[in-house]
Amino acid sequence: MASLVFYLSATVLFAQSTVAFNCSKSPIYVDIHRRAVNGIDVFQYGSFIGVGTSAQNQSLWPSISQNHTSFTSTSYCDNATLANCGTSTGGFFDRTLSRSFEAEPQFQTLDKARNGTFEGDFGHDDIHLYTHYFETDGATQTLLTGSTIQVATNGSIAPSIVGLGQSSTLLRDLYDRGIIAGRTYSLYIGHGFDRAKGVVNGSNVFGGYDAGRFKGDIHKYSMNINRKNPMTLRVKDIVITNSQDKNNVSLFDPAVFTSMKSRPESFEAELTTDQFPLSLPYQLTQNFIAHMGAEKDNFWGDNSLKLKDHFNGSLSIVLDDDFVVTIPSEVLSNFSNITPIQDRAEKSDKPFYLSTAFLTQVYLMADYDSYSFYLAEAVQKNNLVMPTTFCPKSVPVAYERPKQSKWVSQGLIGAVVGGVLGGAGIAVCLYCFIIACIRKRDQKKVEKEIEKGRQSKMAQMEIEDVPEFDPPPKTSTPFFWKKR
Ligand SMILES: *[C@@H]1O[C@H](CO)[C@@H](O)[C@H](O)[C@H]1NC(C)=O
Ligand SMILES: *[C@@H]1O[C@H](CO)[C@@H](O)[C@H](O)[C@H]1NC(C)=O
Ligand SMILES: *[C@@H]1O[C@H](CO)[C@@H](O)[C@H](O)[C@H]1NC(C)=O
Ligand SMILES: *[C@@H]1O[C@H](CO)[C@@H](O)[C@H](O)[C@H]1NC(C)=O
Ligand SMILES: *[C@@H]1O[C@H](CO)[C@@H](O)[C@H](O)[C@H]1NC(C)=O
Ligand SMILES: *[C@@H]1O[C@H](CO)[C@@H](O)[C@H](O)[C@H]1NC(C)=O
Ligand SMILES: *[C@@H]1O[C@H](CO)[C@@H](O)[C@H](O)[C@H]1NC(C)=O
Ligand SMILES: *[C@@H]1O[C@H](CO)[C@@H](O)[C@H](O)[C@H]1NC(C)=O
Ligand SMILES: *[C@@H]1O[C@H](CO)[C@@H](O)[C@H](O)[C@H]1NC(C)=O
Ligand SMILES: *[C@@H]1O[C@H](CO)[C@@H](O)[C@H](O)[C@H]1NC(C)=O
Repeated sequence: MASLVFYLSATVLFAQSTVAFNCSKSPIYVDIHRRAVNGIDVFQYGSFIGVGTSAQNQSLWPSISQNHTSFTSTSYCDNATLANCGTSTGGFFDRTLSRSFEAEPQFQTLDKARNGTFEGDFGHDDIHLYTHYFETDGATQTLLTGSTIQVATNGSIAPSIVGLGQSSTLLRDLYDRGIIAGRTYSLYIGHGFDRAKGVVNGSNVFGGYDAGRFKGDIHKYSMNINRKNPMTLRVKDIVITNSQDKNNVSLFDPAVFTSMKSRPESFEAELTTDQFPLSLPYQLTQNFIAHMGAEKDNFWGDNSLKLKDHFNGSLSIVLDDDFVVTIPSEVLSNFSNITPIQDRAEKSDKPFYLSTAFLTQVYLMADYDSYSFYLAEAVQKNNLVMPTTFCPKSVPVAYERPKQSKWVSQGLIGAVVGGVLGGAGIAVCLYCFIIACIRKRDQKKVEKEIEKGRQSKMAQMEIEDVPEFDPPPKTSTPFFWKKR
């Protein structure tokens, strides 16, 4: 009997110890921007991650649905239907050149819901996660040995993808080996890629978040774990604001769109990075087309609607908790008047998506240990990189910005505040911040003198030039749905 009691209490203790997270583990910051990759002579936008021994460097696109991290085999383009395949995959991986690759032909994929976009072989290999804050500084790497990878052999999309879905093998391995605090992950996708035609770079933080990358209220949501994209939101209104006359039109308003008999219900939409344009319910898409004078188009191969005439205005998405995300004018009719709204067939039963265009405006923080996620307004022009541990079940806290500091007013921006915040950490961070500022200032001076007028390569230093977006409505419950 005594032994049974002992056994039971030991089990309880064991169970408790497995859920006690070590939240002093530092997160891993991996930035997202354009860079040289293995096997392509055109810069590719993505997360700076290498694979194999010796490392073959890639730019991986983050996916919040795919569970596997996948690389593009050197023979992928022989049969793939991806347009401009040779220059748009995010890099190539020649597994025969990697001394650490081990094939695992029996492996059963965790990505069963990925529908025919690509196929490939499974194996194990080393993954190199690179952190580099300044283009002029070297990168530091976090090495994850023998992690599950997929090597894509044929398909129709760019398969160089870092898989951060619900069962992400990368997050699992980083956590199981005690490298990060929990299965937490944060993303700012940025918009420095062709489809968005922007300049701002993004970042991934594994086991953490960048406290300098968001501001304002933080909004908490539960994951819907039965979905391929478990992060879903309810949209209760969409308002188009004309910048010139400040006129607001709700796509939900039956008085404006008389083909609707009544105001539509709110709808559930999935967050995804798997496509750029938003996919809205058929009727709302029709209202958008009618109000904006939009027409079908397929310039980017994603059926984004195109405006007949340029529109100067923004589109605000109102979530059911009154969080408003505004797609600014530069994104709404960015390039040749192509919008980030996808056409939709009347009969389509595909999910609705708040996709990459939406994520260019928000910072996403996901906690797969408690099946919740957080959104906050992204800081586009971020001057501080502040990777902070995201302890499972805790609520991320934005860095409190001081009033414009001397360094900022003197143009000394772009500093990195690394490490874990809190207590003595802050002092250390501030020290690093000052040191980084001084170093950057010196480097900048030298650069300027050496090559005056040439575009500086110090990536993170040039963000002063980024055009600022229209701010979203100031109050948390602006007039346009308060009325209801
Ligand atoms: C927690 O992680 C830190 C940093 O990796 C380590 O120094 C410490 O020993 C760990 N604590 C426990 C209880 O495992
Ligand atoms: C983004 O990164 C690229 C390097 O790939 C750099 O040239 C560019 O200046 C960066 N943009 C910003 C806004 O920092
Ligand atoms: C491409 O397709 C051809 C014909 O089906 C096949 O023989 C070849 O092995 C394929 N190449 C690759 C790399 O899969
Ligand atoms: C990833 O795994 C989850 C289960 O944990 C599954 O629901 C989801 O569909 C998978 N993703 C894909 C792309 O299949
Ligand atoms: C997969 O794609 C095919 C063809 O596009 C489609 O008919 C099918 O419904 C899709 N299946 C799922 C699970 O999405
Ligand atoms: C891959 O990137 C790392 C980190 O910047 C670098 O040290 C290494 O030389 C690169 N490998 C190649 C083959 O360029
Ligand atoms: C490669 O994929 C394309 C489309 O994804 C398909 O049409 C083709 O049959 C595939 N080829 C092989 C050899 O699997
Ligand atoms: C496109 O949008 C980006 C922001 O996503 C902006 O920086 C850029 O200036 C826009 N380009 C055009 C041509 O409007
Ligand atoms: C858009 O409208 C704003 C506000 O009236 C104005 O400042 C801006 O110049 C306009 N932009 C264009 C491209 O017309
Ligand atoms: C439209 O909404 C904006 C933002 O809330 C507000 O400032 C503006 O006054 C509204 N315009 C009209 C005509 O009500």
